[in-house]
Amino acid sequence: MYPGSFDPITLGHHDIVLRSLRLVDRVIVAVAETATQEKRALFDLDERIELLEDVYRDEPRVTIASFRGLLVDFARAADASIIIRGLRAVSDFEYEFQMALMNRSLSPDIEVIFMTPANRYTFLSSSLVREVARLNGDVSAFVHPIVLEAIKRRVPAKEAGG
Ligand code: PNS
Repeated sequence: MYPGSFDPITLGHHDIVLRSLRLVDRVIVAVAETATQEKRALFDLDERIELLEDVYRDEPRVTIASFRGLLVDFARAADASIIIRGLRAVSDFEYEFQMALMNRSLSPDIEVIFMTPANRYTFLSSSLVREVARLNGDVSAFVHPIVLEAIKRRVPAKEAGG
């Protein structure tokens, strides 16, 4: 199970999904209805799920789900034995370490695995993509074309000179 907010999915997330598929047969991308850290949303839950479903339409090993409540409860109900999280930099470590240890004490049978994305994505985050997109910056190098189109519809480009 690969849980997160995915608002929106970035190429960094996608890279982790592809790496995960080298280790496991099936990945459930699980979108949290409520994340631990409060964020200003760009896409609502249904939109995030729709984008993920579109991105993985031709990848039968990836399924998309949403959950509310505890991640470990959802993972157990879905029969997932591994939780995958991406770790980009030392700055991610404390938060991820805390969550992993909390999840382990809640559910010792589920293993948390951290994976690092390709170097070119180590600086990338959904929150930066949201910010750059809201300010009409070019995020085409950071998201799937399907996501880029959805961002363009959500944040129309400013008129030249306006
Ligand atoms: O992409 P994010 O926002 O970093 O993902 C965080 C997420 C959704 C994985 C985390 O907030 C989570 O697991 N939320 C579900 C509620 C829960 O289980 N909280 C206890 C975590 S120790």
